[in-house]
Amino acid sequence: MAKKDVVVGARHVAIIMDGNGRWAKKRHLPRALGHQRGVEAVRRIVRGARELGLEALTLYAFSTENWRRPEDEVSDLMGLMKRFIMSDLDEFAAAGVRLKIIGDYRAFRPDLVELIDGAVAKTAANTGTTLAVALNYGAQDEIARAATKAAALGPITAESISAQLDTADMPPLDLLIRTSGEVRLSNFLLWQAAYAEMMFTEVLWPDFTVEHLREALDDFRNRERRYGGR
Ligand code: IPE
Ligand code: IPE
Ligand code: MG
Repeated sequence: MAKKDVVVGARHVAIIMDGNGRWAKKRHLPRALGHQRGVEAVRRIVRGARELGLEALTLYAFSTENWRRPEDEVSDLMGLMKRFIMSDLDEFAAAGVRLKIIGDYRAFRPDLVELIDGAVAKTAANTGTTLAVALNYGAQDEIARAATKAAALGPITAESISAQLDTADMPPLDLLIRTSGEVRLSNFLLWQAAYAEMMFTEVLWPDFTVEHLREALDDFRNRERRYGGR
């Protein structure tokens, strides 16, 4: 089978948006400003993903481990999320973006949960790019929750767990990008990454542009995916 002759573009890209703190530190600015610039990068990349025709973009915004950060930083991040939804939802909704949350976001403040639920409901019927935002997300937690549900329905198999993951209604993960030079998954999409292509860049998240995303997608097209076959 000449599968490798068929050049297929990525349908689903996920990004570990890392390096906001170091971006700020390099400039002797408060971390909060790094996160603020990180939100601007999110805005650009969501627009870019739409323009580049991605079916799905998953962004790691807050991990189950990020609660370990100082209270004021956690609170800054929550405030930024709230402001981002309030300022950008209309644009994304009008552009056909479907917002989805992965992770146990109901652990967040009630006002934020309410805002998120409203935003998800507002875009639920959209058929353009799916934007999955990972909030209070940890892959180990996701897999444990999925396995619990799968066990209640019948035998546990790879398929039955996959069907209960937070990403169950999304295309398979093609490409996982991490910014900031760290080469680890930090509990992100461990199951979905089984055969995803990986890309690690030194670029700090606030500096990440649509051009970087385009380059990553070009690089992806040149990779030969084998899935264990030959
Ligand atoms: C990523 O930037 C944003 C979140 C984890 C929410 P960091 O805050 O982790 O930035 P660094 O890694 O300290 O530079
Ligand atoms: C991963 O980044 C989480 C997000 C980008 C939301 P971290 O900065 O939290 O990861 P570690 O601690 O360096 O592994
Ligand atoms: Mg980090």
